[in-house]
Amino acid sequence: MVADRELVLQNFETLAENEVVLSDRIYDLLFEAHPELLELFSAKHSAGGRQMVRETLMYAVDHVNGETWVAMNLASLGAKHVEYEVTEVMYEWLIDAMIDAMAEVSGSTWTAELGASWRDVLRYLADLMIAELPPGKQIGR
Ligand code: HEM
Repeated sequence: MVADRELVLQNFETLAENEVVLSDRIYDLLFEAHPELLELFSAKHSAGGRQMVRETLMYAVDHVNGETWVAMNLASLGAKHVEYEVTEVMYEWLIDAMIDAMAEVSGSTWTAELGASWRDVLRYLADLMIAELPPGKQIGR
């Protein structure tokens, strides 16, 4: 279960209010660190990308609130991402970019503890999707 549910939910409000800035920063950081990812996203990636960030945060909140269907939906989303040619290491890259952008957007309300809680939640979502990769493509931890 999540380290600090209340902290995550409170911070989610701040993030949701700044959703456009947050998405833009996530993709800036992601593409700056890993320019090869640009090819993966369609030309309209900013529209698709915003949807992805929004839905990822919604899944995170629903999971934090104990919704068990999240696991089922993420399995089919994971299978779709196999078709998008998303690999295991890319999930790490996205999580790092998300955490850094979330910290920026949250300003002085951000703490290390909050960062660790968010990382746990995003890790949980990513693991469910990674489980859909063909076995040879999972690097294992
Ligand atoms: C927790 C992890 C993730 C979640 C919850 C998530 C969620 C989503 C959602 C909801 C969509 C749009 C709708 C759909 O195709 O069904 C999407 C599309 C997409 N995702 Fe993800 N995603 C995750 C991780 C990643 C990662 C790590 C990458 C690669 C770095 C990635 C690349 C893409 C691409 C290329 C699309 C296609 C749409 C576009 O071109 O913008 N996703 N994702």
